[in-house]
Amino acid sequence: MTPSRRRILTGIRPTGPLHLGHYAGALENWVRLQKEYECFFLIADYQVSDYADDIDRVRASVWEVALDWLAVGLDPEGSHFVIESMVPQHAELMVHLSWFMPLGRLQRNPTLKAEMADLDVGKKGVPVGFFIYPVMQVANILMPRAHLVPVGEDQLPHIEMTREIARKFNRDFGEVFPEPEPLVGRVPRLVGTDGQAKMSKSLDNAIYLKDDAETVRRKVMGMYTDPTRLRATDPGHVEGNPVFMYHDAFNPDAAEVAGLKERYVRGAVGDVEVKTKLVAAINNLLDPIRERRAYFEARPQLVKDALAKGGKAGFDAAEETISAVRKALRLDYLDRGMPEAR
Ligand code: TRP
Repeated sequence: MTPSRRRILTGIRPTGPLHLGHYAGALENWVRLQKEYECFFLIADYQVSDYADDIDRVRASVWEVALDWLAVGLDPEGSHFVIESMVPQHAELMVHLSWFMPLGRLQRNPTLKAEMADLDVGKKGVPVGFFIYPVMQVANILMPRAHLVPVGEDQLPHIEMTREIARKFNRDFGEVFPEPEPLVGRVPRLVGTDGQAKMSKSLDNAIYLKDDAETVRRKVMGMYTDPTRLRATDPGHVEGNPVFMYHDAFNPDAAEVAGLKERYVRGAVGDVEVKTKLVAAINNLLDPIRERRAYFEARPQLVKDALAKGGKAGFDAAEETISAVRKALRLDYLDRGMPEAR
């Protein structure tokens, strides 16, 4: 048997189309690493308890995410696109792992805490399924026994929990899981077009990978910039200015960016020129992505084939892990037979 490649598992929740924050924070790394690693890309449709009243949206988003992945150049021949619920072993593994996860450890998870505080649940309260999603995520990562988890910065606490559980399991029950490493992208957290801390669908401050050129132009021209600058001749601030953060992130012409910054602080360039150049840079980046998206949108059978093939690969990997886990935990009752009286 040829030695198999090291593995990646990472994922995204199917709650809407993907944006530039996903791209610079994670997707770019995925595309780069997919030759070197065997990749399991998960569409995490168990992680949607906050959208449980809108399953049609989840269903549509599963296809949106698959299309966005194909559009950025993830390759379903070499990599596995896995819909989480097509691998119900995740639920089984989560139950076993939850035995070893203290409640307080989960309550202290900073990402979970922040998300629960933001959750718009009204009188309903936080769903139990939301509270335990990090445990499900640990199960996701351990399922294919991944070595590397390329994600956005906000996911780091979940990966730390994964490492802790893997260590404990291996120590107590024998070596089953690698201790996975996180990998954060080039731009760990992209600001929104409105200058808010994070680009996100719910804040309505996102530029989507599927936005057409005109939509990108409109969003960029309306971007939040230096609020202290009233005229093009006023000296401007580059630090903390979202327009320049996007130039740094998405304009490959470093000399152009340096020139714009230099003129901006001197008050020698208008916002319109700075933004127009940003529109061009982003549209250049997105053009080939849009083209590939259109190709697959016109061929839904190819998307379906990718999801079918990936789901099968995810299922097969899960069967191997689950049987190793049952053995390690000595829950393979019938194989072991009736124990001696104790
Ligand atoms: N929670 C992640 C997010 O909101 C998505 C996700 C689900 C994930 N399962 C995962 C990420 C496993 C990495 C590994 O983006």
